[in-house]
Amino acid sequence: MSLIDRFVESHNLSKTEYVELLECRENEETARRLRDEAVRLRKQYYGNKVFTRGLIEFTNYCKNNCYYCGIRNGNRHATRYRLTEDEILACCQNGYTLGYRTFVLQGGEDPYYTDERMVKIIQRIKKEFPDCALTLSIGEKSYESYQLFRNAGADRYLLRHETADETLYRSLHPEVMSLEARKQCLYNLKELGYQVGAGFMVGAPGQTISHIAEDLLFLQDLQPQMVGIGPFIPHHDTIYAEERAGSVELTLFLLSVIRIMLPKVLLPATTALGTLDPRGREKGLSAGANVVMPNLSPVENRKLYELYDNKICTGEEAAECRGCLSKRVESIGYQLVTERGDALQ
Ligand code: 5AD
Ligand code: FES
Repeated sequence: MSLIDRFVESHNLSKTEYVELLECRENEETARRLRDEAVRLRKQYYGNKVFTRGLIEFTNYCKNNCYYCGIRNGNRHATRYRLTEDEILACCQNGYTLGYRTFVLQGGEDPYYTDERMVKIIQRIKKEFPDCALTLSIGEKSYESYQLFRNAGADRYLLRHETADETLYRSLHPEVMSLEARKQCLYNLKELGYQVGAGFMVGAPGQTISHIAEDLLFLQDLQPQMVGIGPFIPHHDTIYAEERAGSVELTLFLLSVIRIMLPKVLLPATTALGTLDPRGREKGLSAGANVVMPNLSPVENRKLYELYDNKICTGEEAAECRGCLSKRVESIGYQLVTERGDALQ
């Protein structure tokens, strides 16, 4: 039996087998077979539906210093902003009218938003929009904080692990951060009953095929309901300003691999993918992705939430983004839907 046949049948491989699979990424026949199987699985579970998540980037203050990130604490050139509770609620209201039934509150690790403030925001959103799912993406917190947010009504949590390799993790983050702590957060979130999203950047500085195989093994172990991957894109105010961006082709290949590994996974075609290739998000959906996450943040703030250079959709109103995406999605035979889009059991 060939490696691909075995992968398609068992949905999991060993590290050396993942390396072998990834080494075939430029073989067209391999890439096509994986893509076909990924699309078949995605259709089997989700038909032609594409779920939307309204992304609200509510603060670009961050206490961390991840070396690749444009809003890291040490970047003195970043202009910082925070949305007020009322501004956040106004984004949700606008999103609700446009057909969003999941809101993602994403921000840097901003100490201003204490547990108490977060709980208030979560409770207000869940009270005013009881038929919507609420996803948090606000970084590493204690078990107790995650529990408070969960009790307040948060349904899902996105926390990319960034890389499952200890050495690569060290090279991308300052000493005070640790892979172990990050992984523990993900396991804690799962235990608390969140639908959990992990993920990593494709082509992060120093990343090898063997590192990516580690990421796949970690996902296999964690069994997250969501996986966020996108190409690394350099930001001009970081030490990686002159690095090459990650590969669109490899990102698409990995979307197919992840769909086969976790057939029911909620898998976004990310903004970073759309930034490197004008049809990146469409290509992502055609490789096995089934989620898009357009921006609901006020237009004035969008450019300031600059994790990497040349981010798309920063000048568009939320309504324009919805319309634009809806057309894009239909152009490849899929349909944007107005549903919470929870993880299938
Ligand atoms: N290029 C691509 N993705 C990035 N992220 C942070 N910086 C970059 C960059 N320069 C990703 C990280 C983070 C997510 C919110 O954005 O993976 O978890
Ligand atoms: Fe934002 Fe196209 S999705 S303008």
